[in-house]
Amino acid sequence: MKPRRFFTLFLMAAVGPAAHAADGDSNAGVTIGVAAHGKYLYDAADCAGCHGGGRTGTPPGGGRALATPFGTFYAPNISADPRYGIGGWSEAQFRDALRRGIAPGGKQLFPVFPFPSFSGLTDQDISDIRAYVLSLPAVPDPDKPHQIRAPFGWRPMMAVWRALFFRPGPLAAVAGKSDEWNRGNYLVHAVAHCEECHTPRNVMGALRGSRAFSGNIGGPDGQNAPNITSDSETGIGTWTIEEITHLLKTGETPDFDSVASGMAEVIRGTKMLTDDDRHAMAVYLKSVPPIHTARRPPDHP
Ligand code: HEC
Ligand code: HEC
Repeated sequence: MKPRRFFTLFLMAAVGPAAHAADGDSNAGVTIGVAAHGKYLYDAADCAGCHGGGRTGTPPGGGRALATPFGTFYAPNISADPRYGIGGWSEAQFRDALRRGIAPGGKQLFPVFPFPSFSGLTDQDISDIRAYVLSLPAVPDPDKPHQIRAPFGWRPMMAVWRALFFRPGPLAAVAGKSDEWNRGNYLVHAVAHCEECHTPRNVMGALRGSRAFSGNIGGPDGQNAPNITSDSETGIGTWTIEEITHLLKTGETPDFDSVASGMAEVIRGTKMLTDDDRHAMAVYLKSVPPIHTARRPPDHP
């Protein structure tokens, strides 16, 4: 696996372009309605893709291996189990993991867990995700230890990267933009973390904001994620809002192709969203400034 691929997996600095607000209050009760909303977000964010659970209704007992050139990371057990999962964590501790990438005891989490994106989530949404996770059965399985070569498994190293590139959320609404645009901005950045694959990175693996959405190595199989800015030649500028919405629902492009690779996994989540939410994401995407790239990446490897 190439180092760039490692950065894609390991250094995910999907901090949105908007300013960030200070923490708000959160006191959500665990009710069925809250857990259902939590499931909606859990699916859209594809927590299940790594931790298990969600769409299948099975609990997130962990275990998916994420291979990188520096070793293999295993998605931990985040089920309701008090010993091996997050059942014993307070709401504040769970929020710290998603908002700040810090687990209980001050453990700095690696951004192979896309917390730089999830940091943009509101307190209420994080609380609802937790309510959903706690509503599922506990899995009493210990985490598989990561197998990372020294020194990359040394967590304190993360402090340097965080200081340089990590800006905690939540994502603030942008004044002067419509409610629908702001909803799309939030879903694209904080929930579905589209930039993580579609935005190129600098040598330190941080997203290059000035080149947002102009394409990068994106799929789990190393396939390129294409330019999805509104450039009409090298991006998706010729797509209508309805065509983008249709892709997010069905995985079909305007030329009747079906997206594959990492994008197929993304569609598994976006197809669970409401039509309004998919429309909002499309409205936001259409507003992304065009960036002309040298050439489109190859369609399929
Ligand atoms: C791309 C795969 C991936 C996705 C998607 C993902 N995670 Fe994770 N998550 C991981 C990995 C890997 C770790 C372990 C990171 C580490 O050890 O530093 C982790 C760690 C965590 C932790 C800390 C657990 C602990 O015991 O320290 C929590 C909580 C968590 N994830 C919740 C979530 C939630 C909620 C979602 C969806 C909103 C999510 N994750 C989406 C891969 C993922
Ligand atoms: C895991 C990496 C990954 C993530 C996350 C991701 N994409 Fe993609 N995306 C890809 C890849 C790879 C392709 C190319 C798939 C193919 O050609 O079969 C693609 C293709 C696309 C296309 C089709 C472009 C074209 O010219 O055919 C659009 C539009 C798109 N993605 C939008 C999004 C949106 C919106 C999000 C967030 C909801 C997103 N992507 C998240 C990897 C990703």
